[in-house]
Amino acid sequence: MDESENQTSNPRIAAGAKAISDIIEARLSRRGFLAGAGAAAATTSLGCATGPQHSRLAKAPREFAFAEIARGGDGDHHAPDGYLTDLVLRWGDAVFPDAPTFDPYRQTAAAQERQFGYNNDFIGFYPLRSDGAEGQHGLLCVNHEYTSTRLMFPGLTDGRMLSQEECEVEMAAHGGTIIEIEQDRAGVWRPVLASQYNRRITAGSTPIEITGPAAGSDRLKTKDDPTGREVIGTVNNCAGGVTPWGTYLLAEENFNGNFLGALEPGHPETANHERYGVPGGWYQWGRYFDRFDVSKTPNEPNRFGWMVEVDILDPNSTPKKRTAMGRFKHEGAESVVAPDGRVVFYMGDDQRFDYVYKFITARAFDPEDRAANFDLLDEGTLYVARFDADGGLEWLPLIFGEGPLTPANGFNAQADVLIETRRAADLLGATPMDRPEDVEPDPATGRVYLMLTNNTRRTPEQIDAANPRANNAFGHIIEIIEPNGDFASTQSRWEILVRCGDPADSQAGALWNPATSDNGWFGSPDNCAIDPQGRLWVATDGNEATGANDGLWALSTDGEARGTGRAFFRAPNGAEVCGPRFTPDGETLFLAVQHPGDGDDASFEGPTTRWPDFKENTPPRPSVVAIRKASGGTIGG
Ligand code: FEO
Ligand code: CA
Ligand code: CA
Repeated sequence: MDESENQTSNPRIAAGAKAISDIIEARLSRRGFLAGAGAAAATTSLGCATGPQHSRLAKAPREFAFAEIARGGDGDHHAPDGYLTDLVLRWGDAVFPDAPTFDPYRQTAAAQERQFGYNNDFIGFYPLRSDGAEGQHGLLCVNHEYTSTRLMFPGLTDGRMLSQEECEVEMAAHGGTIIEIEQDRAGVWRPVLASQYNRRITAGSTPIEITGPAAGSDRLKTKDDPTGREVIGTVNNCAGGVTPWGTYLLAEENFNGNFLGALEPGHPETANHERYGVPGGWYQWGRYFDRFDVSKTPNEPNRFGWMVEVDILDPNSTPKKRTAMGRFKHEGAESVVAPDGRVVFYMGDDQRFDYVYKFITARAFDPEDRAANFDLLDEGTLYVARFDADGGLEWLPLIFGEGPLTPANGFNAQADVLIETRRAADLLGATPMDRPEDVEPDPATGRVYLMLTNNTRRTPEQIDAANPRANNAFGHIIEIIEPNGDFASTQSRWEILVRCGDPADSQAGALWNPATSDNGWFGSPDNCAIDPQGRLWVATDGNEATGANDGLWALSTDGEARGTGRAFFRAPNGAEVCGPRFTPDGETLFLAVQHPGDGDDASFEGPTTRWPDFKENTPPRPSVVAIRKASGGTIGG
């Protein structure tokens, strides 16, 4: 994606401040020295450096057993020997029985509203029922993060502007898809087009209610919505989550890119919009729609950057933007029920030098009464993480009236704290991280895995214990340890699990278990999953910086193998790998292959691959694939 996506907009960094003042405590500088002296020597300390907090609450997960695939890159995808890869849904495939046949040369918004959207990212799976020999059924919830305009539409290589209809197609291709799928007798997953549950949610047409403490704020009111409580659409839906009560969360990530125009000088939203990079100007929608032009609708950006909740069992329900969960470039929202019944959501703000958050509901989850949980996300406390050099982690509450979050600093209500979550977190002294992506709790162990994808802008003066490399081109993974498995704790511990990059390159500062093969290391961790056996899987976005395509790797977290990567899946040229989602039996793995065919000069006419159809004149199509073992059984051995 455009390099500008990941500029810092954190003024603490822009002003040259150190990330945290008291950096590099002795324990971690020792490890840094070891990494510089030789990665193999350094990795011998993996897993034992900080001792007792690694005790598992459940028995250790099984080790991985599959034949690694080779590092590399070409126009097709690759899975290990003995595994089958089926295409489940491609961009433009029907979601409803009346959907028009995909025709990339005659795209319309009306057709796209009935078809699978573009750039599939998050995947949720909600098991519905099993009808014996007919196999499993479930609901697939898939985000459509963004549109790759030049790959999507023909005839853009001459620099022409998009038409209004093409902008409307893009808006219809954003959002999410909820679709029932079933497994046939051969084990192949197929969409059930006639299902009562199927639904498209889009940027252009879906009414969404704004709920929680910021709903009705003057700063959310526009000409089209004088109540500040209803907005059309959701955009840039990156990762997400499925809640314990069976709803689907779509995270609004790079919403700034959807806006054009300029605020009038001295406008009161100026500093707020700057902190989020608004307007990003990546899309042309604002030429035709006033709400995407900040000069005409200055409050519209405040209505994006939220977490959106959808009841997947009621296709007529109104999705809700849950403002209590904060406003930032939301990556994921994976959750876990804490021992006292409250529900804890872990969330990243994906930008260089931005933060990691945790939201804890005020009330407990009621497993006996689904509807009793429907508004759990409107009340609770949002916390931001401060990673201390001694391995401690403080979760700092963002509460109006506490600490610096007062009228003296421009916060006049909790609504202001939430609309300007980033600025509130700046004032609390949160730790600026190397682009936080997915954050995944493991309910069995009390541990949480945090993907930090990369940050080439961090200078040597800005390194800290939790972000220990300057010019961090390859990212790293942090393990958070919740004390005694209490996910609702506000005092945790943390440890670096791996530093990504090539362990054979002494300049890279990588840190892996020496058992990692030359295929097993990677760069730019992004999405991740914990499988039903408790094992971690990591997908990448940006692994091309290592000279190979993106993919999915198994990553051991326990025992002598801790810190060992193993290559499982390789994406076709230009694509990142998203999703990863296992069925509850661990026998199917769904992956979202996003922006296949992309590249510096890639276009509809000249993509870097025509995956998955490989037909002349047919553009590449982002698609969800299902991976199974040919012989049946658990993915990964
Ligand atoms: Fe859309 Fe942070 O990846
Ligand atoms: Ca992502
Ligand atoms: Ca990404």
